[in-house]
Amino acid sequence: MSDSLNILYLSAEILPYAATGGLAQVAAALPRAIRRLGDDIRVILPRYGLINPEKLGLKRVLAHFPVPFENDVEWASLWRAPDPDLPIYFIEHQRFFGSRQGIYSFPDDGERFVFYSRASLEAARHLDWRPDVLHCNEWQTALIPNWLRTTYKDDPFFARTAVVYTIHNLGYQGIFGYRVLQIAGIEQHGFIAHPDIAPSLNQVVSMMGRGIIFADIITTVSPSYAREIQTPEFGEGLDPILRDRSERLFGILNGIDVEAWNPATDTALPARFSSDDLTGKQICKRDLQERMGLEIDADAIVIGLTSRITDQKGFDILTAVLEPMLRLLPVQFAIMGSGDQRYHHILDDLQQRYPRQLAYHAGYDESLARRIYAGSDIFLMPSRHEPGGLDQLKAMRYGAVPVVHATGGLKDTVADHKPPHTGTGFTFAPYDCMALYAAVVRAIEIHHHPDIWRDIQNEAMTRDYSVDAAARAYHRLYRRARSLKLTGRPES
Ligand code: GLC
Repeated sequence: MSDSLNILYLSAEILPYAATGGLAQVAAALPRAIRRLGDDIRVILPRYGLINPEKLGLKRVLAHFPVPFENDVEWASLWRAPDPDLPIYFIEHQRFFGSRQGIYSFPDDGERFVFYSRASLEAARHLDWRPDVLHCNEWQTALIPNWLRTTYKDDPFFARTAVVYTIHNLGYQGIFGYRVLQIAGIEQHGFIAHPDIAPSLNQVVSMMGRGIIFADIITTVSPSYAREIQTPEFGEGLDPILRDRSERLFGILNGIDVEAWNPATDTALPARFSSDDLTGKQICKRDLQERMGLEIDADAIVIGLTSRITDQKGFDILTAVLEPMLRLLPVQFAIMGSGDQRYHHILDDLQQRYPRQLAYHAGYDESLARRIYAGSDIFLMPSRHEPGGLDQLKAMRYGAVPVVHATGGLKDTVADHKPPHTGTGFTFAPYDCMALYAAVVRAIEIHHHPDIWRDIQNEAMTRDYSVDAAARAYHRLYRRARSLKLTGRPES
């Protein structure tokens, strides 16, 4: 018997087709790396209106197949991308996806993603391609583990299929009312009444909660976050069920595509550089200052930040100390991102009052993101919590030394500088504005010692952040999930 498994990887976002955040990046890089290890992994997402089949050269592979939905059927079709390295499928349904431009935030999101999930399973059946493992991500696909234990339990096609469920951010659980269970055809199983372990699940449907309860294996995107979410402080009400299933919960550190994020080959940059020769980084810094309208000053310490502009990302503590930093420290800020209006206003206001020192670009622009990593001396990520985090990895690879809150994936990837020469950045705790301020001051002090700074930069740039380690871990976990499903024991 060949050792290759069939894996169906389900994610509501996959780059370059649909993206709002880190999920889309992981869903693009991880399956490719897993495929290189020999498994037949295929990915599937909805064909949102913004995905144009003609422009992208998609081919229709299933014209019309039935999907059980709310005591009836809905019809879907299936498209495939012309990607030679990875089979990428799209579920088409005009009303739920095709006729709309955005990805989320419609009043019927519950129905839309229940449909996408169910249609993905039925598509596998109609392709006659039997998955050994379904790898589900986030709340949008979290009813699948529930179905496999109920609706599909005695279905010969799926009876031997195991489920790995990945949490990228417990903050987005997919909370809906009872109706979503009717649509999904599992209302006879009712709310999950766990009065002792999870009273929060008695009155609402938490899609993510169901994913956690029914999956064979649960993963999240860093070892620290896997521990944190088992505590009431980070558990968002689900910590009791996570503790209950802790022997099935694994923290697997995210990685990045190190070919796509490489300062030595990046054509978006005005100059290229590597850890052996940082001359190009000086050119990138000057170019960034010029492009963003900052004062051109080789001695100013440029602090870069690309992020959603929200509380979770630390903007509450950052905005409390931004102005004192601008007044008292030899720094400039290059900030990009969008999010909460009130932080936009604060940043716009500071930009007007300190135009040579703070530049703010609202929105997301990948080429500018690359220039920020390359042109910054320091990269700031003060997230209140951060399940995995990808920006700090890119920043380190581009020689921008990170200053981060010691939480989740940030804690696992940034090694705090210890005198005389070790570390890849600076971490702070507790989560408050004074600790943040102190960490930035500490970084600036060390920046005044070029030899030490150079060692930190060098260590940050040469560590291995590739997605391959995560791929190897999933390759093992798929086998463990399968064995748990088939024998009830972790290894067969
Ligand atoms: C979510 C998390 C982020 C993680 C990303 C990819 O966006 O908030 O920390 O890096 O998913 O897993």
